[in-house]
Amino acid sequence: MVSLKDRDIISFRDFTKEEILYILSLSKEMEEKAHPDLLKGKVLATLFFEPSTRTRMSFESAMKLMGGEVIGFVDPGATSIAKGESLRDTVKIVAGYASAIVVRHFLDGAARLVADTVGIPVINAGDGSNQHPTQTFLDLYTIHKTKGTLDDLAIGFIGDLKYGRTVHSLAYALAHFRSYMYFISPPSLRMPPDLLKELSERGVKFQEITSLEEVSDRLDVLYCTRIQKERFADPIEYGKVKGSYHLSKATLDRSKVKKTLKILHPLPRVDEMDESLDETPYAVYFQQAHSGIPVREAILASVLGVKELD
Ligand code: CP
Repeated sequence: MVSLKDRDIISFRDFTKEEILYILSLSKEMEEKAHPDLLKGKVLATLFFEPSTRTRMSFESAMKLMGGEVIGFVDPGATSIAKGESLRDTVKIVAGYASAIVVRHFLDGAARLVADTVGIPVINAGDGSNQHPTQTFLDLYTIHKTKGTLDDLAIGFIGDLKYGRTVHSLAYALAHFRSYMYFISPPSLRMPPDLLKELSERGVKFQEITSLEEVSDRLDVLYCTRIQKERFADPIEYGKVKGSYHLSKATLDRSKVKKTLKILHPLPRVDEMDESLDETPYAVYFQQAHSGIPVREAILASVLGVKELD
């Protein structure tokens, strides 16, 4: 039997295919039926060292919809970190106040450090350019829901593939499902070489290209991402790639994409995706963001050990 009781959710490297499918099945159950008292008496601490709309609010909403309570911060400057307290000491203290911790941090590996420090489940809400595993669970959930399968799909990833933590997690997860991956980016924003090596070792077939036009008619899913200004040490380097892609209804009509293509985006978007796409049948990114509730309900209920599949 699959159980994620007391587990940390840090990286997709930590999950088997069976465990991934278990969370997706439980998410469906959560979407179909309310569980208002499931987490009564439990407290979730949300520690956000970087801005967030979707991840933080959907975690908070998921917790409250299941009868739990939420504590935490969105401004570390209003905590004793501003007086010089370390991340380690901070989370040791928080672990005495909560049943689980959700942490978003600007440094790769910060969530793992938190998990290694405390004895309660820790959920990575995005660590630097590394991983964003709960986003990936809701991406997989949306792909399955809108395509009817996760298997044998041609997936295009476009935008900031170097710093995009959602891309890194999702590519790793889709390696379980025989996806063919097209990595579409400016040369300076290619996928990290060590991740490509891992994908190759796992038998994934992929191509790195610069233009969507080259492959647009082959794609089942296009995963679009923002070029993340905040990750560039040098604003001149950001200026060179800013606005590299701008998807619109007109672009897609010209590109002869499959009618069944689905476009996902973790959001927020800036200039890479036009609002003219929103009303097309391709666009599933708002549905994707709203899946954050049942998926994060499933994750919380699993790691807190209060729910198994009916
Ligand atoms: N997708 C995502 O992580 O969005 P937020 O930064 O708003 O949480």
